[in-house]
Amino acid sequence: MILDVRNIDTYYGLGHILHGLSLGVNEGEVVALLGRNGAGKTTTLRSVTGLTPPKKGEIFYKGRNIAGLEAHKVSRIGIAMVPETRDIFSYLTVKENLSIAERRGSRWQMDTVLGRFPSLRERLNNKGRELSGGEQEMLAIARALMTGPDLLLLDEPSQGLAPLVVNAVMDTIRELKSQHVSMLLVEQNAEMALQLADRVYVIDHGTVVFEGTPASLRADTNVTATYLGVGSENAGEA
Ligand SMILES: Nc1ncnc2c1ncn2[C@@H]1O[C@H](COP(=O)(O)OP(=O)(O)O)[C@@H](O)[C@H]1O
Ligand SMILES: [Mg+2]
Repeated sequence: MILDVRNIDTYYGLGHILHGLSLGVNEGEVVALLGRNGAGKTTTLRSVTGLTPPKKGEIFYKGRNIAGLEAHKVSRIGIAMVPETRDIFSYLTVKENLSIAERRGSRWQMDTVLGRFPSLRERLNNKGRELSGGEQEMLAIARALMTGPDLLLLDEPSQGLAPLVVNAVMDTIRELKSQHVSMLLVEQNAEMALQLADRVYVIDHGTVVFEGTPASLRADTNVTATYLGVGSENAGEA
């Protein structure tokens, strides 16, 4: 297991958000993390990256307990996050946004990354704020890759994107999987996540309420209706 989150409790101030949450990602796996708005998905990723460390529990990465390790150190040992807000520097160019993340020894250098994302190469001297939502998402993924991660945490990469662009993001995730990048994929777009994932967790109120394969989740109409809004007016919403 590359990531083994055991029984974590995470707070924002007095707000107790994660309650004994446990999940794991095996080497080379794409694991989906689903659940309704406010369930604690982003908080789970922030717990792993050290942005909001847990108060209790352990987070094993490659066998080492990293719970509470500072965010910059977590990044250095090979975990990268693509945040929901993408966090592109709007007044820096594409090239500058990528250069910032450059790291010696990473298997993704400027050339490798631009080879994979030709649309970014075309926009190299454009400022972040001049990019479309899809280009910003690609830039956020590309920037995360520059750090050379073995584990990539993706927070709602499909958010706000047109269906064709969502397909491009899915292709990127498949390709990264073929290059043995392990991924934890948070999505509101359950259909997208289920198409990509080897395994899936559904969380609610900061705790795991379902764990299994995409097929077993699809078959569990109780869970999909209760926690994913499938069958309600939210069904199929991006
Ligand atoms: N910075 C924060 N301060 C206080 N509460 C927060 C903060 N961020 C999120 N929360 C609360 O934590 C809970 C889980 O949020 P989050 O992890 O962002 O959910 P999700 O990503 O599943 O939509 C929500 O009730 C949310 O209101
Ligand atoms: Mg979120």
